[in-house]
Amino acid sequence: MVKALVLLLCVGLINACKDKQTIPKSTISSPSGNVKVNFFLTANKAPAYQVLFHDQVVIDTSFLGFDLKDQLALKDNFEVVTVAVDSAYENWELPWGEQLKVTNRYNELIISLKESTETARLMNVIFRVYDDGLGFRYDFPEQNNFQEAIILEENTQFKLTGDHETWWMPGDWDSYEHLYNHTNISEINALALGDPGLNQSTIMANAVHTPFTMKSKDDVYISIHEANLTDYAGMTLLVDTANLVLKSGLVNSERLGYAVKRTVPFQTPWRTIQLADKPGDLIASKLILNLNESNKLGDVSWIKPMKYNGIWWEMHLEKSGWDMEGGKHGATTANAKRYIDFAAANNLGGVLVEGWNTGWDRWTGIPDREGVFDFVTPYADYDLEEVVRYAKEKGVAIIMHHETSAAPRTYEKQLDAAYGLMQSLGLHDTKLGYVGRIIPEGEHHHSQWMVNHYRKVLETAAKYKVAINVHEPIKPTGLRRTYPNLVSAEGVRGQEFNAWAADGGNPPDHLTIVPFTRMLAGPIDYTPGIFNIKMDPYRPNNQVNTTLAQQLALYVIIYSPVQMAADLPENYEGHPAFQFIRDVGVDWEQTEVLDAKIGDYVTIARKERGTDNWFVGSITDENLREVSIDFGFLDEGKNYTATVYKDGEKAHWDKNPTDYAIETLQVDKFTQYNLRLAPGGGAAISIMPNLSSDQ
Ligand code: NOJ
Ligand code: CA
Repeated sequence: MVKALVLLLCVGLINACKDKQTIPKSTISSPSGNVKVNFFLTANKAPAYQVLFHDQVVIDTSFLGFDLKDQLALKDNFEVVTVAVDSAYENWELPWGEQLKVTNRYNELIISLKESTETARLMNVIFRVYDDGLGFRYDFPEQNNFQEAIILEENTQFKLTGDHETWWMPGDWDSYEHLYNHTNISEINALALGDPGLNQSTIMANAVHTPFTMKSKDDVYISIHEANLTDYAGMTLLVDTANLVLKSGLVNSERLGYAVKRTVPFQTPWRTIQLADKPGDLIASKLILNLNESNKLGDVSWIKPMKYNGIWWEMHLEKSGWDMEGGKHGATTANAKRYIDFAAANNLGGVLVEGWNTGWDRWTGIPDREGVFDFVTPYADYDLEEVVRYAKEKGVAIIMHHETSAAPRTYEKQLDAAYGLMQSLGLHDTKLGYVGRIIPEGEHHHSQWMVNHYRKVLETAAKYKVAINVHEPIKPTGLRRTYPNLVSAEGVRGQEFNAWAADGGNPPDHLTIVPFTRMLAGPIDYTPGIFNIKMDPYRPNNQVNTTLAQQLALYVIIYSPVQMAADLPENYEGHPAFQFIRDVGVDWEQTEVLDAKIGDYVTIARKERGTDNWFVGSITDENLREVSIDFGFLDEGKNYTATVYKDGEKAHWDKNPTDYAIETLQVDKFTQYNLRLAPGGGAAISIMPNLSSDQ
């Protein structure tokens, strides 16, 4: 057993096998000692853990275990067989990302348990403790008495120590496209909420989605999520409001009658708890990436971070349509060339074309969507090869669109053909969609069967050197470290809701919450950059609920290596503020969260890779705000020109959203600058070194 553990510990870690001990020890601290985990067996020999941050208990006695089909629950009567500790300290680099260098430094505790009853099943619990939180997972080693696990429920608890403030969305098994609610834990009532934006909602219990972020009365920020979700069901958190206990609630397959089926040996995903003294440190934490395996794809220089535009917003405005039927097809050869010309002239690397392939005329309103979409046959008015040829000539990438209509079996049958076509055309980028209820019935977007489908798509795409940006995805869990071709995902109530949501769209505070919740999971394809805020003349009853200046700030606030310039080319043409979108980076050397209060405001600075340019974004909720920017992040001895795109004096997200001003100033490391953000407003700053700066 000890030998097996030692082997397990050595896999994939640099310096991982130093200082190994097998001493009875059930406490482990993070490298600096600020996070501590205690593991113990309670009176009935049930495994439990406790977490301390700065020596204060933040997760109190919380139980671990499983309900299984046709087998006794794994929950008590355990004895500790061995306890091993280990540590790792490595530096690694993100091929693209919000920063270049990442440090992975933790101490590890591995508890090997055995039931003292007749079943004598073996279960290990592994804790990795970092200075910014911890991850733990269950590990089932090979054994005689336990060969297949059919998990009905995982019973991992998180016992909170107070009625924390939270920003939560209901734990819908099919969608993350909900607004956040801001309440205390005791007030969470996911079941009582209507679901204005969606009709395919399946909210099964008083459950919330992860990343689930909380703030204690002592200003400790706690966020629970999962890392490396592999061959397992997605985890929601069931909320016991009376006892302030959260418990894993796995997404079930009603078709199969369980949540997870695995052959032993196997390991669960990591359950993660990020801990911070200030909200910006949650964004800085790379815990979730660190808990994933390193890059399996090798050279990924073919993956290109980029800004893109596309035949997309015009369909959401109903200026054009996805299919040819209504006589206003958006994806025509001529229209694609118009977007390509605009992209080439304005420093955008790609053009997305939705509605290029057959099937759009039949995809809604029929119960069985199998076989509807075809991912290789263009509509008659779209000459795919000519569009690709023209784009290449102009130095622009075409981003293919595959709307699966949540019929994964149809998509799987065509994966090789679809990606093979892309390979033959020299294309590397695609956007996927999974709109609707999953077929077969009883499966959900976040059930194990779909987790495996999304993985199969990711791995197949990698074989053809295709990068994917998934809409209606399974939430990111850091897999982009292992598969860097997973470049972005939706999994958020994105910009599109502003075009058509009956509830009036995303309220002005939405994007002051997203960076501390969904964004902790990974990149977001939010699709910022709408300049025609009121959408005249297409959508008289809808609007974007921010100022124009905030739309610019989102390129810095919301992280994604692919960022859309989402508005129509005619709304950008000749607009002075578009210069910011031309200039802004998408691939970052470094990220600094300068200041933030969840749900109120956030200011972030990012340094572009390969240049000395910095970009700052600052956004506020519905309240007017003064923010002070300290340029201390700039290099010593360098002078820069900063161009500030800010709210005009009369700007207001509703009354006057397009009032903006541009100011140019000289800055250096010692500059302090005060900004006034209008209600629902923001500011974007590009900061470029003066040529004479180093002389
Ligand atoms: C939903 C996606 O989020 C959106 O971006 C896309 O345009 C539609 N599906 C159609 O595929
Ligand atoms: Ca969507």
